[in-house]
Amino acid sequence: MQPITDIKQLFRHQRQVRAFANRPVDDATLNEVLEAAIHGPSASNAQPWRFIVVRDPEVKAQLDTLYEAAFAEQYGGTPPPRGQDRQPLSEVPILIVACVRVRGRANIATGASVYPSVQNLMLAARAMGLASGITTLHRLKLAEVHEVLGIPEGWDTAAIVLLGWPDRRYGPNRRPPLETFIAHDRWTDPPPRA
Ligand SMILES: Cc1cc2nc3c(=O)[nH]c(=O)nc-3n(C[C@H](O)[C@H](O)[C@H](O)COP(=O)(O)O)c2cc1C
Repeated sequence: MQPITDIKQLFRHQRQVRAFANRPVDDATLNEVLEAAIHGPSASNAQPWRFIVVRDPEVKAQLDTLYEAAFAEQYGGTPPPRGQDRQPLSEVPILIVACVRVRGRANIATGASVYPSVQNLMLAARAMGLASGITTLHRLKLAEVHEVLGIPEGWDTAAIVLLGWPDRRYGPNRRPPLETFIAHDRWTDPPPRA
Protein backbone atom coordinates (compact mmCIF):
# COMPACT_ATOMS: atom_id res chain seq x y z
CA MET A 1 0.00 0.00 0.00
CA GLN A 2 1.22 3.48 -0.76
CA PRO A 3 1.86 6.02 1.98
CA ILE A 4 -0.91 8.62 2.34
CA THR A 5 -0.39 12.30 3.01
CA ASP A 6 -3.92 13.54 2.21
CA ILE A 7 -5.68 13.47 5.58
CA LYS A 8 -9.13 12.87 4.06
CA GLN A 9 -7.82 9.86 2.21
CA LEU A 10 -6.08 8.67 5.34
CA PHE A 11 -9.31 8.25 7.33
CA ARG A 12 -10.97 6.45 4.44
CA HIS A 13 -8.11 4.06 3.95
CA GLN A 14 -7.59 3.05 7.57
CA ARG A 15 -8.53 -0.65 7.50
CA GLN A 16 -8.52 -3.63 9.78
CA VAL A 17 -5.74 -5.80 8.39
CA ARG A 18 -5.31 -9.37 9.58
CA ALA A 19 -2.52 -10.60 7.27
CA PHE A 20 0.92 -9.11 6.76
CA ALA A 21 3.89 -9.41 4.45
CA ASN A 22 6.94 -11.28 5.64
CA ARG A 23 8.92 -8.07 5.85
CA PRO A 24 10.37 -6.63 9.03
CA VAL A 25 9.48 -3.19 10.35
CA ASP A 26 12.65 -1.29 11.19
CA ASP A 27 13.07 0.53 14.49
CA ALA A 28 12.95 4.03 13.01
CA THR A 29 9.61 3.31 11.35
CA LEU A 30 8.26 1.69 14.49
CA ASN A 31 9.35 4.62 16.61
CA GLU A 32 7.55 7.08 14.35
CA VAL A 33 4.36 5.13 14.85
CA LEU A 34 4.88 4.94 18.62
CA GLU A 35 5.66 8.65 18.71
CA ALA A 36 2.23 9.32 17.23
CA ALA A 37 0.69 7.22 19.98
CA ILE A 38 2.26 9.11 22.85
CA HIS A 39 0.93 12.39 21.48
CA GLY A 40 -2.63 11.24 22.07
CA PRO A 41 -4.89 12.97 24.58
CA SER A 42 -5.71 11.62 28.03
CA ALA A 43 -7.86 12.71 30.96
CA SER A 44 -6.00 15.38 32.96
CA ASN A 45 -3.14 14.80 30.53
CA ALA A 46 -2.10 11.95 32.80
CA GLN A 47 -0.67 9.92 29.88
CA PRO A 48 -1.48 6.75 31.80
CA TRP A 49 -0.20 4.39 29.14
CA ARG A 50 2.53 1.98 28.35
CA PHE A 51 2.91 0.23 25.01
CA ILE A 52 4.54 -3.18 24.99
CA VAL A 53 6.15 -3.91 21.63
CA VAL A 54 6.13 -7.66 21.18
CA ARG A 55 8.50 -9.14 18.63
CA ASP A 56 9.70 -12.20 20.56
CA PRO A 57 8.31 -15.25 18.69
CA GLU A 58 7.76 -17.12 21.96
CA VAL A 59 5.68 -14.32 23.48
CA LYS A 60 3.74 -13.88 20.23
CA ALA A 61 3.04 -17.62 20.17
CA GLN A 62 1.66 -17.51 23.70
CA LEU A 63 -0.55 -14.56 22.86
CA ASP A 64 -1.70 -16.38 19.73
CA THR A 65 -2.79 -19.40 21.75
CA LEU A 66 -4.77 -17.22 24.14
CA TYR A 67 -6.27 -15.17 21.31
CA GLU A 68 -7.45 -18.31 19.48
CA ALA A 69 -8.97 -19.63 22.71
CA ALA A 70 -10.79 -16.31 23.16
CA PHE A 71 -11.88 -16.36 19.54
CA ALA A 72 -13.27 -19.90 19.91
CA GLU A 73 -15.13 -18.83 23.06
CA GLN A 74 -16.57 -15.81 21.29
CA TYR A 75 -17.63 -17.72 18.19
CA GLY A 76 -18.91 -20.80 19.97
CA GLY A 77 -16.10 -23.03 18.82
CA THR A 78 -16.28 -22.04 15.17
CA PRO A 79 -14.05 -18.98 14.81
CA PRO A 80 -13.39 -17.54 11.35
CA PRO A 81 -10.70 -19.77 9.89
CA ARG A 82 -7.07 -18.78 9.99
CA GLY A 83 -5.49 -18.58 6.61
CA GLN A 84 -4.75 -16.13 3.87
CA ASP A 85 -6.99 -13.44 5.32
CA ARG A 86 -6.36 -14.03 8.99
CA GLN A 87 -2.83 -14.78 9.97
CA PRO A 88 -2.03 -16.29 13.37
CA LEU A 89 -0.87 -13.59 15.79
CA SER A 90 2.40 -15.49 16.03
CA GLU A 91 3.11 -14.58 12.39
CA VAL A 92 2.24 -10.91 12.67
CA PRO A 93 5.52 -8.94 12.59
CA ILE A 94 4.76 -6.80 15.65
CA LEU A 95 2.10 -6.86 18.32
CA ILE A 96 1.69 -3.71 20.37
CA VAL A 97 -0.13 -4.19 23.63
CA ALA A 98 -1.68 -0.92 24.77
CA CYS A 99 -1.74 -0.81 28.56
CA VAL A 100 -3.53 1.73 30.69
CA ARG A 101 -3.12 2.49 34.37
CA VAL A 102 -6.27 2.01 36.40
CA ARG A 103 -6.72 3.94 39.62
CA GLY A 104 -9.64 2.56 41.59
CA ARG A 105 -12.40 1.37 39.35
CA ALA A 106 -12.02 1.54 35.57
CA ASN A 107 -14.56 3.87 34.03
CA ILE A 108 -15.21 5.30 30.62
CA ALA A 109 -12.34 7.76 30.99
CA THR A 110 -9.95 4.87 31.55
CA GLY A 111 -10.37 3.49 28.05
CA ALA A 112 -10.83 6.98 26.65
CA SER A 113 -7.36 7.83 27.94
CA VAL A 114 -5.65 5.23 25.78
CA TYR A 115 -7.81 4.49 22.74
CA PRO A 116 -7.14 7.86 21.10
CA SER A 117 -3.44 7.01 21.28
CA VAL A 118 -4.13 3.65 19.71
CA GLN A 119 -5.99 5.39 16.90
CA ASN A 120 -3.08 7.84 16.47
CA LEU A 121 -0.79 4.87 16.18
CA MET A 122 -2.92 3.12 13.58
CA LEU A 123 -3.43 6.26 11.49
CA ALA A 124 0.27 7.07 11.60
CA ALA A 125 1.02 3.53 10.50
CA ARG A 126 -1.38 3.76 7.58
CA ALA A 127 0.02 7.14 6.56
CA MET A 128 3.42 5.49 6.25
CA GLY A 129 2.07 2.60 4.18
CA LEU A 130 2.00 0.16 7.07
CA ALA A 131 -1.11 -1.77 8.02
CA SER A 132 -2.61 -2.46 11.40
CA GLY A 133 -5.40 -4.29 13.13
CA ILE A 134 -6.89 -4.02 16.58
CA THR A 135 -8.38 -6.56 18.94
CA THR A 136 -9.83 -6.41 22.41
CA LEU A 137 -10.76 -10.08 22.37
CA HIS A 138 -7.72 -10.91 24.46
CA ARG A 139 -9.71 -9.52 27.37
CA LEU A 140 -11.59 -12.81 27.55
CA LYS A 141 -8.27 -14.28 28.69
CA LEU A 142 -7.06 -11.27 30.60
CA ALA A 143 -5.39 -12.98 33.56
CA GLU A 144 -3.42 -15.29 31.27
CA VAL A 145 -2.39 -12.43 28.97
CA HIS A 146 -1.20 -10.40 31.95
CA GLU A 147 0.74 -13.38 33.21
CA VAL A 148 2.48 -13.88 29.85
CA LEU A 149 3.40 -10.20 29.64
CA GLY A 150 4.20 -9.69 33.31
CA ILE A 151 1.76 -6.82 33.63
CA PRO A 152 1.69 -5.50 37.20
CA GLU A 153 -1.30 -4.79 39.41
CA GLY A 154 -3.00 -1.50 38.67
CA TRP A 155 -2.61 -1.82 34.92
CA ASP A 156 -5.07 -3.03 32.32
CA THR A 157 -4.58 -4.01 28.69
CA ALA A 158 -6.91 -2.03 26.45
CA ALA A 159 -6.03 -3.49 23.07
CA ILE A 160 -3.56 -5.51 21.08
CA VAL A 161 -2.55 -3.82 17.84
CA LEU A 162 -1.27 -5.92 14.96
CA LEU A 163 1.34 -4.06 12.94
CA GLY A 164 3.33 -4.75 9.81
CA TRP A 165 3.59 -4.18 6.10
CA PRO A 166 0.38 -5.31 4.41
CA ASP A 167 0.27 -8.57 2.48
CA ARG A 168 -1.69 -6.92 -0.37
CA ARG A 169 -3.37 -3.69 -1.38
CA TYR A 170 -6.44 -2.88 0.65
CA GLY A 171 -9.10 -0.56 -0.73
CA PRO A 172 -10.91 2.11 1.27
CA ASN A 173 -13.14 1.21 4.17
CA ARG A 174 -16.88 1.38 3.57
CA ARG A 175 -19.26 3.19 5.85
CA PRO A 176 -22.91 4.25 5.50
CA PRO A 177 -23.56 7.88 4.55
CA LEU A 178 -22.93 10.60 7.10
CA GLU A 179 -26.58 11.28 7.97
CA THR A 180 -26.82 7.75 9.37
CA PHE A 181 -24.80 8.82 12.36
CA ILE A 182 -25.33 12.54 12.82
CA ALA A 183 -28.01 14.52 14.64
CA HIS A 184 -28.20 18.28 14.90
CA ASP A 185 -28.83 20.22 18.10
CA ARG A 186 -30.89 17.41 19.66
CA TRP A 187 -31.09 13.65 19.43
CA THR A 188 -32.93 12.33 16.41
CA ASP A 189 -33.27 8.70 15.46
CA PRO A 190 -31.25 7.69 12.44
CA PRO A 191 -32.96 6.97 9.13
CA PRO A 192 -33.35 3.25 8.45
CA ARG A 193 -30.22 1.78 6.96
CA ALA A 194 -30.47 0.78 3.31
C1 LIG B 1 -12.73 -2.48 20.02
C2 LIG B 1 -12.47 -3.25 18.74
C3 LIG B 1 -12.23 -4.61 18.81
C4 LIG B 1 -11.97 -5.34 17.65
N1 LIG B 1 -11.68 -6.67 17.74
C5 LIG B 1 -11.36 -7.37 16.63
C6 LIG B 1 -10.97 -8.73 16.71
O1 LIG B 1 -10.88 -9.32 17.77
N2 LIG B 1 -10.65 -9.37 15.57
C7 LIG B 1 -10.70 -8.76 14.35
O2 LIG B 1 -10.38 -9.38 13.36
N3 LIG B 1 -11.08 -7.45 14.24
C8 LIG B 1 -11.39 -6.75 15.35
N4 LIG B 1 -11.74 -5.42 15.26
C9 LIG B 1 -11.76 -4.77 13.96
C10 LIG B 1 -13.16 -4.54 13.39
O3 LIG B 1 -13.67 -5.76 12.97
C11 LIG B 1 -13.00 -3.53 12.25
O4 LIG B 1 -12.63 -2.30 12.80
C12 LIG B 1 -14.29 -3.35 11.47
O5 LIG B 1 -14.66 -4.57 10.88
C13 LIG B 1 -14.13 -2.30 10.37
O6 LIG B 1 -13.11 -2.71 9.51
P1 LIG B 1 -12.62 -1.74 8.33
O7 LIG B 1 -12.21 -0.46 8.97
O8 LIG B 1 -11.50 -2.47 7.65
O9 LIG B 1 -13.78 -1.53 7.42
C14 LIG B 1 -11.99 -4.68 16.40
C15 LIG B 1 -12.23 -3.30 16.35
C16 LIG B 1 -12.45 -2.59 17.50
C17 LIG B 1 -12.66 -1.09 17.43
